[in-house]
Amino acid sequence: MAVVPALSTQCVIWFGKPKRHERAALGAAGWQVRAARSDDGIGLRAGDTVVGLLDLRDGSHGCLDRLERLAREHDYLSLLAVVPAATGPSPTRHPILDHCAAILTAPLDVPRLIQALGRLVREPRVDPAHALGSLIGASPPMRDIHATIRKFAPVDLPVLITGDTGTGKDVAARVLHELSARRRARFAAVNCGALAPNLVQSELFGHERGAFTGANARRAGLFETADGGTVFLDEIGDLPLEAQTNLLRVLQDHSVQRVGSHESIPVDVRVLAATNRDLEAAVAAGKFREDLFYRLNVLRLHMPPLRERGADILLLASHFLNAYRDKNPTRARAFSSSAQQAMLGFAWPGHVRELINRVQRAAVIAEGELIAPEELGLCGHPPEPAGDGALDTARESAERETILNCLRESGFNISETARRLKVSRVTIYRLCRKHALDLARLR
Ligand SMILES: Nc1ncnc2c1ncn2[C@@H]1O[C@H](COP(=O)(O)OP(=O)(O)OP(=O)(O)O)[C@@H](O)[C@H]1O
Ligand SMILES: [Mg+2]
Repeated sequence: MAVVPALSTQCVIWFGKPKRHERAALGAAGWQVRAARSDDGIGLRAGDTVVGLLDLRDGSHGCLDRLERLAREHDYLSLLAVVPAATGPSPTRHPILDHCAAILTAPLDVPRLIQALGRLVREPRVDPAHALGSLIGASPPMRDIHATIRKFAPVDLPVLITGDTGTGKDVAARVLHELSARRRARFAAVNCGALAPNLVQSELFGHERGAFTGANARRAGLFETADGGTVFLDEIGDLPLEAQTNLLRVLQDHSVQRVGSHESIPVDVRVLAATNRDLEAAVAAGKFREDLFYRLNVLRLHMPPLRERGADILLLASHFLNAYRDKNPTRARAFSSSAQQAMLGFAWPGHVRELINRVQRAAVIAEGELIAPEELGLCGHPPEPAGDGALDTARESAERETILNCLRESGFNISETARRLKVSRVTIYRLCRKHALDLARLR
C-alpha cells in the first residue's frame, strides 16, 4: 500500500502511534500526520514536503530492517526519530538511526519536533549517496568508510583522518563537510606543512597591525574567515608546537587570539585534521602535544590502502579513464584483461593518486582501444606482494602465530597491532576472522 499525501502538503508519515495531542499540535503547525505501517511503501509527489518519523517509543523494533530498506530506497526522504531516552550510541543501536536528520528522545517534546521539522523544510537534505559518490568504492573497507562518514558528518566534533598519501583523505574531509549542517559555510583547507614557519600563527589566527615587521594592516586568520564552517588542517603533524598551543585554545574555548593581541575572538568552526604520519609516535617523541592529539582524535577515520580495496581498483581505473576521455582525445576505451589482472596484483604504494597517474599516462600513449599492462607501466611486475608487510612472507601458521603474539603484546589493541605489523586495522580484523581468532573471547 502506498501512502500518498495530497498535493503540495506538508506531511509527516508517522511510523508508529502518534498521540491525539501530537496530531493536533502538528496539524495546528501546518503538518498533516499520516500513520503508516512498517511495510507501507511511500508515494512521493513533486512539490510535497514529506518527512518520515520513526517512533520507537513503544520499543517495537521488529520493523526496523524493513524501514531501513525503505529509507535507503528513498534516500531523499528526510527522517526523524523519536527514541526512548535510554537509546544512546550503543552496540544495539540500529543502523537506520544513521539515516535520521534528528533524533529526539521520549517523552516527546512536540514544540521541539515542530522546530526540527521546520529546519528540515528550510534545509532540504543533501543526498548522502550523491556526496559520497565522490569517494568511489564498493569494497567492504570502502563501504565501512562510507558508513562511518555518514555517522561522523552530522556530529560537530573534530575528526582525525589518517591513511597513506593518496588514499583519499582530502576527498573524505570534503564529503564530511558536505554532509554536515555547515555545508553552506566555508570549507577552509590549509596544508600545515606548506605554511612558512614564521607565518603559521598569522595565517591561522590572524594578526594585528604592527604585530611584526611587515604587518601593515590588521588581518583575520583562516579560523575567523571560516566562521560557521569547517577548517581542514592537512598534514597536521607538521604544525609547529607554538601553533599547536593556539589550536588547542580554539578547540577548548572556541576562540582565537590574533598575533599581537590578547583579545579572544569567538569562532564557530568544526576542525577536521589529516595526517599520513604516525601522530602517536610524534606524541611519544615530544613533537606533537598529547592534549591536542586527544582533542583532535575524538573521531578517527582511517583510509584503507588501495591494495585492500579489491575490485574497487578496476572501478576507479575505469572512472579515471572515462574522466580523461571526457576531456581529451584518446584511442583507449577500456583495459585488457591482462591489464586488469596486473592492476589487481599490484601493490599500489602511491594508492589512488598513483592509479590516476598511471591511467592518464596509459591513456596518452595507448596504441589500441584496450590499454595493455605495459602501457600502465605494470609489465614485468610480478604481482607484487599484496602489501601486508611482514605478514606476506609468513606461512599460514606462522601468520596466525605472528598476529596472536602481536595482539597479546599490544593488549589486544587493534590499532597498535596494526601499527606494529604495518598493516591496516581492516587487515587485522580480516586476519582474525581468517584464523578464527575471537577477539572478544581472547580479551
Ligand atoms: N575513493 C576515491 N574516489 C575517487 N577519487 C579518489 C578517491 N580517493 C582518492 N581520490 C583521488 O585521488 C587523489 C588523491 O586523493 P587525496 O588528495 O584525497 O589523497 P590524500 O590521502 O589527501 O593524500 P596526501 O596524504 O598526499 O594529501 C585525488 O585526485 C582524489 O580526487
Ligand atoms: Mg591530502
